[in-house]
Amino acid sequence: MSSQDSDELTPLRRFARGRYSVARPLARWYVLATSAELRDKPLSRSVFDLPVVLFRDGRGEARALLDRCPHRNVPLSDGRVVGGELECPYHGWRFDGGGACRHVPCLVGESRAKARDAVALPTRELDGYVWVMPAHDVTPTTEPYRFALAGAPGYTTVRQRVEAPGTLHAAAENALDVPHTAFLHKGLFRSESRGITLTVNVRRTADRVEAEYVGEPRPPGIVGRLLSPSGGTVQHWDRFVSPCVAEVEYRLGAENHILIATALTPASDFVTVMHACVSFKLRVPAAVVKRVLPPLALRIFQQDAALLAKQTERVRRFGGEQYAWTDADVLGKHIWWLLRAAERGVPVAIVNRGVTRGDAHATVKVDAGVGEALGALAAALC
Ligand code: FES
Ligand SMILES: [Fe+2]
Repeated sequence: MSSQDSDELTPLRRFARGRYSVARPLARWYVLATSAELRDKPLSRSVFDLPVVLFRDGRGEARALLDRCPHRNVPLSDGRVVGGELECPYHGWRFDGGGACRHVPCLVGESRAKARDAVALPTRELDGYVWVMPAHDVTPTTEPYRFALAGAPGYTTVRQRVEAPGTLHAAAENALDVPHTAFLHKGLFRSESRGITLTVNVRRTADRVEAEYVGEPRPPGIVGRLLSPSGGTVQHWDRFVSPCVAEVEYRLGAENHILIATALTPASDFVTVMHACVSFKLRVPAAVVKRVLPPLALRIFQQDAALLAKQTERVRRFGGEQYAWTDADVLGKHIWWLLRAAERGVPVAIVNRGVTRGDAHATVKVDAGVGEALGALAAALC
């Protein structure tokens, strides 16, 4: 028996699908650092496994280069910033924010030569984040996503960075998936069905998909009454803004509004870094929420990260994945289609050709609470 024959007989090989939901939209913007992290030292980062070094140039502007010295392939992030130029630790070549080699020590004569330049990547700094496009040969025709409520009057913002051992698609779906909360986060979120049927309106456009949950009553208990004394319903939207932002938004009455916007950065195919930016105004004092929210969010995230790690391990061990879908899996497929469309640079409708359940507008009914994040916060505040 050949080794190939014996491979084919292993149970794993018989169940393997040989496929991963990995999309790599390169000509798009991704968060590689917060503004606060990028100070006077270079930062080593990775997007789609591409090594990137960030530093501040002579004007204090955030810049990104491929993290490889054109001289002898040494990581430039091991160097230092001197007068706004990035100095390689090996022979001291210096590069400006555009990647141009400005100084070659020991060389008598002109330092400038195109072949000595490092590769620069498009960079923007907005709303407290440094965005990079991992494509050096394109001129950006779009600008990064804006965190609209960060710093808005009346709102308080809390930021958190966490790492998820999963693909961009898996991390985005997890961030916007409602049904898992009652199981994976049991105890933190409501676990009993309240027997309420909710209507979910799904709308997809060229660059995003939104699920609007209709009919969720105010969270039960004293905090629900505190947040909204007059009752009312929770307005809840989950959105994926292609290719890398997950938004969860709640409104309860006129005085309570929460927007959790998370920028997802695929450091590699199977590791996604998440920069969560939570902006809120609530009837509860902001100082109280700021004390309660970070540890609560971290606990929820740790449960998600552990699950994503197990999911990823199982997909890789099988050499591929298997998915079964129901109407309650509201956004997962749409996220995948948008990612593939972004990767190919084609309109999403073309990607959907031949798919019967890919309607751009759909309404489904689910029996699942949708005010979970709000409910969990309410429970934690009690
Ligand atoms: S390897 Fe960078 S200067 Fe020589
Ligand atoms: Fe979760």
